[in-house]
Amino acid sequence: MSKKILVTGGTGYIGSHTVVELQNAGYEVIIVDNLDNSNIRILDQITKISGIKPQFYQLDLSEENKVIELAKAHPEISGVIHFAAHKAVGESVQLPLKYYRNNFFSLINLLTAFAGREVDFVFSSSCTVYGQPDQLPVTESAPVKKAESPYGNTKQVAEEILQETAEANTNYHVISLRYFNPVGAHASALIGELPIGVPQNLVPFITQSAIGKRGPITVFGDDYNTPDGSCIRDYIHVVDLAKAHVAAIKLLEDNRTIKYDVFNVGTGKGSSVLETIKAFESATGVKLNYKIGPRRAGDIEQVWGDVTKSAKELHWKAELGLDEMMRSAWAWEQYIAENPFE
Ligand code: UD1
Repeated sequence: MSKKILVTGGTGYIGSHTVVELQNAGYEVIIVDNLDNSNIRILDQITKISGIKPQFYQLDLSEENKVIELAKAHPEISGVIHFAAHKAVGESVQLPLKYYRNNFFSLINLLTAFAGREVDFVFSSSCTVYGQPDQLPVTESAPVKKAESPYGNTKQVAEEILQETAEANTNYHVISLRYFNPVGAHASALIGELPIGVPQNLVPFITQSAIGKRGPITVFGDDYNTPDGSCIRDYIHVVDLAKAHVAAIKLLEDNRTIKYDVFNVGTGKGSSVLETIKAFESATGVKLNYKIGPRRAGDIEQVWGDVTKSAKELHWKAELGLDEMMRSAWAWEQYIAENPFE
């Protein structure tokens, strides 16, 4: 019988791509999502890609009783991949309690609900825990720097909660994946990122600008200490990122001695904002309008990941480059413009 994985936030951007990769790998999936920042139609899109409709619960994980009921109703669940969380950095500065309440209560309720049985748990963490690293590429053993925002703090503290819980509870086996910058969309162009309002992140802004939904792109600063003056990030294709979650579940299944571990999920290569704009133009043939603006408060100058540990121990490595990230992000933007969800 195939194993069953609970995916929280499974209709979201990274969650939906991970559901498809889990199904491709032969897992059965149950999705939990409150649809706060996602669309129910993603379920049909997943079904179009894989031919399998995942079981779905619309549920808010911050309601403890509901989470306990769900866990009781599904004693067959062997793994949990936890994506469901608020993630807007700027909003978290304005509304810290919204972030602490949702992100912590959801995590604690899940851990409480599954505490009585053997569960593999994979958590969505972020390279934001490193801040501006002292050494690049940054390895998993680099110090965790004081968080720049309540959002970043929820990731740091969640990692601690998970490590302490796994060490205290013999049933838990946990991996935190520290994502670099996820971009791109599924090759089918049937699922992708669906930002609400004006995108804060670079690639959704690029694609919306290219299709005429937004004005010119502003490059936030060209006076950084980098080769072309713009900030550098490690962009990772969302399908590669999704596969890292399958690899994490498999590693936990194969190696029962793991209590808690952390892996970087990036390509190991940095690209500047200007290089990313150029990559979009050359991958799609679409010319972009952009201007140079002031630096954005709180931005890190440059960060990219050392992915040696992920290659060696997680047996995972990114396969898709910047070209494919840009091409797929553009195909998705065009698809959703022609087939809007509402
Ligand atoms: C941000 C968060 C990070 C979070 C991630 C979630 C900060 C400091 N970091 O990452 O913690 O995990 O989002 O997706 O907020 N840029 C432009 N013009 C734009 C938009 C972005 O030049 O219109 C630049 C930024 O200055 C940055 C790069 O593009 O150098 C990437 O920005 P973005 O996509 O927002 O991601 P991060 O800031 O790296």
